Amino acid sequence: MQAGGTPGAGGTIAFVGCGNLGFAILERALAAGAMPATEVTVVEPDAARRDHARALGARATERLADARAAGTVLLAIKPQQFETVAGSLGPLTDATRVVSVMAGWTGATIHDRLGRGPRVVRAMPNTPVRHGLGFTAIAAGPRAGEDDLAAAERLFGAVGATGRIDESLMDAAVSAVGSAPAYLFLLAEAQVAAAVGMGMDPALARAATAQTMLGAATMLAKDGRTPEELRAEVTSAGGTTAAATRVFEDGGVRELVARAMRAARDRSRELGR
Ligand SMILES: NC(=O)c1ccc[n+]([C@@H]2O[C@H](COP(=O)([O-])OP(=O)(O)OC[C@H]3O[C@@H](n4cnc5c(N)ncnc54)[C@H](OP(=O)(O)O)[C@@H]3O)[C@@H](O)[C@H]2O)c1
Repeated sequence: MQAGGTPGAGGTIAFVGCGNLGFAILERALAAGAMPATEVTVVEPDAARRDHARALGARATERLADARAAGTVLLAIKPQQFETVAGSLGPLTDATRVVSVMAGWTGATIHDRLGRGPRVVRAMPNTPVRHGLGFTAIAAGPRAGEDDLAAAERLFGAVGATGRIDESLMDAAVSAVGSAPAYLFLLAEAQVAAAVGMGMDPALARAATAQTMLGAATMLAKDGRTPEELRAEVTSAGGTTAAATRVFEDGGVRELVARAMRAARDRSRELGR
C-alpha cells in the first residue's frame, strides 16, 4: 500500500501543479459542475495557491505522495519540473489514470518515469478554458482505454470543446491548439496598432478588435460555413476588403502562417522527451 491512501480511488482527481492553466481548468470545471470540489486535491508548493484551492472547497497539500490516492492525476506542472515530480509521485499502478497537459513529455516516457504502471492520457488545452471556451486535443498514451479518453473528454469538455488525435500529432497540437491563441493576440496587436495609426482611440480600437474577433469566431463556429465562404461574403470585387486581402496575399500570409506553425511544432519536438 502506498502512502497517501487507497491508490487510484474512484472519481477523485489530484491536480499536480496548479498554476495558470491548472487553476483555469479547476475553477471552470467546478463552476460547470464537472466534479464536486470535495473530490479534488491540489498539490502545490506555493502556500497562496494552496489557500486559493481550499477557498474553492478543494483539499490542498504540498506532499506529492498524497496525489497517489486519486483516481486521476492531472499533471499541470511545467515540463522541466516533471523529472523531480516523478521521483516523489511514482511509482503509480494501473489503478491511476494520469492526464498530462505538459508539452514535450511523451506518454511513453511519462509512463516509464512513473513506474510503468499508470494509464496515460495526453491533453493539449489552450488558455480560453478560463472562460469555458478552450479547445483540448486528447490522445491515448500507454495503457489508456476508451474509459480514460472519455473521462478526459468529460473534464476538458466542461471547459470547452475537445477532439481526439493520435499521439504522434501532439507536437502539431501544441502548435495548432496550445500556442494558437497567441497568434490571434499577435494579429489583434497589429490591428489595434494600425487602427491607432489611422487616428482611432486606442481603447475603442481594442474593443472593436476584440468584439470583431469574437463575432468572427462565433460565425466560424456556429454558421456551418467554411472560412473561405465567410470571407467571400464580406468581399466584393473591387471593394475595401478585397484591397486589404490582396495585401495579405501578396505578402505571403498563408506561407507565413504555415512557417510559424511548423516552427512551434518543431520546437515542441525539440523539447520532447
Ligand atoms: N499555458 C498554456 O497556454 C498551456 C497550454 C497547454 C499546455 N500547457 C502546459 O501546462 C503546464 C502548466 O503550464 P502553466 O502555464 O500553468 O505553468 P505554471 O503557471 O508555472 O504552473 C505550474 C505549477 O506547478 C507548480 N509546481 C512546481 N513544482 C511542483 C511540485 N514539485 N509539485 C507540485 N506542483 C509543483 C508550480 O509552482 P511554482 O510556480 O512554485 O514552481 C506552478 O504553480 C505546462 O506543462 C505547459 O506545457 C500550458
